[in-house]
Amino acid sequence: MSFSELKGFAFDLDGVIADTARFHGQAWRQIADKVGTEWTDELADGLKGMSRMDSLELILKSGNHENEYTQEEKEAIAKEKNDNYLTLVQELTPDDVLPGMRNLLEELKSKGYHLALASASKNSPKILKYLEISDYFEGIVDPAQLTHGKPDPEIYLEAAKIMNLAPEQVAGVEDAQVGVDAINRAGEVSIGIGDYLKDADVKFANTAEVTLDAIKEQLS
Ligand code: BG6
Ligand code: MG
Repeated sequence: MSFSELKGFAFDLDGVIADTARFHGQAWRQIADKVGTEWTDELADGLKGMSRMDSLELILKSGNHENEYTQEEKEAIAKEKNDNYLTLVQELTPDDVLPGMRNLLEELKSKGYHLALASASKNSPKILKYLEISDYFEGIVDPAQLTHGKPDPEIYLEAAKIMNLAPEQVAGVEDAQVGVDAINRAGEVSIGIGDYLKDADVKFANTAEVTLDAIKEQLS
């Protein structure tokens, strides 16, 4: 893992750039209550980074309800979650970029690094607009085109392709364990934000600590 090889950064969105992980959590908690699954910190962390349908499956499994709903009913529940989420995020403004992240994007861009978004969220383009940061990214991986969700490396490999870079030239930034696992499996440098994460090449306790210098320091 060498810092000098890095040419691009692939960013997760929720919980890394945008203060939206709490809204996903809030909206999923309503669904957990509805289906009768107990809401725990472990479940909340386990949901981070998971696609919409994988999240619902995890909630159902966690309360032993996985065989109680038809596919059609599951799709209706996932839509209800998304409707609730979209109501919650309507309040987002540029102030809801997480601490330090606008500066980081600015610094990376001004130093000529490529930037792409590797979020599992189908709502990413909307959230980037609310935060007024769409222009930083040369590409957004479309999760609807992917076969597998995180921890599969597909989304991070696609992000490297969008930037025209080899995986070893890319660092991925994540707040979810499935996301760090996806980056590692893609052969990219993993930057993990959150004390609960394992196996990240570079670790930070919170977004405010993430700077290019601090990344360089941990990689050398
Ligand atoms: C991820 C979030 O970024 O996107 C998950 O961490 C969320 O919590 C997933 O479930 C899918 O998002 P969406 O907006 O497509 O339902
Ligand atoms: Mg995230």
